[in-house]
Amino acid sequence: MPERTISDASMPNAGRIYDYLLGGHHNFEIDRQAGDQVKELFPFLPKKMRLSRWCLQDVARTLTVERGFETIMDFASGLPTMDHIHTAMAPGTTLIYSDHDPVTVEYGREILSDTPNVHYFQADCRRPEELLTRSEVKEILGDNRHVAFVYWGVSMYIADEDIAHVARTLYDWSDDSSCLAFYLDIADPESPITAKVIEVYRQMGEELHFRPLDIFKELAKPWHADELGYRAMDEWHGVELAMSEEELKAVGVRGSGYGVYLVK
Ligand SMILES: C[S@@+](CC[C@H](N)C(=O)[O-])C[C@H]1O[C@@H](n2cnc3c(N)ncnc32)[C@H](O)[C@@H]1O
Repeated sequence: MPERTISDASMPNAGRIYDYLLGGHHNFEIDRQAGDQVKELFPFLPKKMRLSRWCLQDVARTLTVERGFETIMDFASGLPTMDHIHTAMAPGTTLIYSDHDPVTVEYGREILSDTPNVHYFQADCRRPEELLTRSEVKEILGDNRHVAFVYWGVSMYIADEDIAHVARTLYDWSDDSSCLAFYLDIADPESPITAKVIEVYRQMGEELHFRPLDIFKELAKPWHADELGYRAMDEWHGVELAMSEEELKAVGVRGSGYGVYLVK
């Protein structure tokens, strides 16, 4: 099969669809058509994504401006468009984006072009050691082990054993005051929306993983939550979008997802 590239407009691409649903311009007609189908199935999704991206901007500001981190490694980044981390972090921060999808990585690099101190590499977020030991990354980091890691909007793609592996690997690699910002998607197993999401992904050949908060806390050890604790998106950022009660429930502002700063 020929290698797919960013200019391949014959197949929809998840990163470009995400960009379209966020209201961005880095997408093709085929992505917009796929995005419209997604919206038909899950009308609340664009608002959930918007809210999640605002929370991610808060993460970028909090880590760099308030907590003084000078290096961020972001896993499963998607396309660096529509207010991603580099647009909100303190100037001069070194940022390493990564994603496992080669089309997203190639397009991401083109979008960033020569944005100073911002890099994009292909990497599987379930195996962070592969990114950490990559020669270009070792060159960027040198002996620096004071890093803020970010896993945002990807927990449902990662199985329990992989979360445990990620937590342990990053814990062992980084210094004592490093941090792991994590967003945990929680789905109500009784909800028809959950069943529909899982089924749609299954049809696309992708298995989704949801787990309750207590299980996640065990998997994330030896990290633990900082003093802010586990916060739903409305507590994290506030809800700036007009949303019906039904939408509020569906986007998970109450109890179906939590962001956390994990510390040592
Ligand atoms: C919902 S987007 C989240 C993007 C971004 N982190 C955010 O919060 O806006 C999920 C991204 O995870 C990537 N992804 C899924 N599984 C992955 C894996 N095992 N390793 C790396 N990236 C992965 C997808 O390619 C996609 O770009």
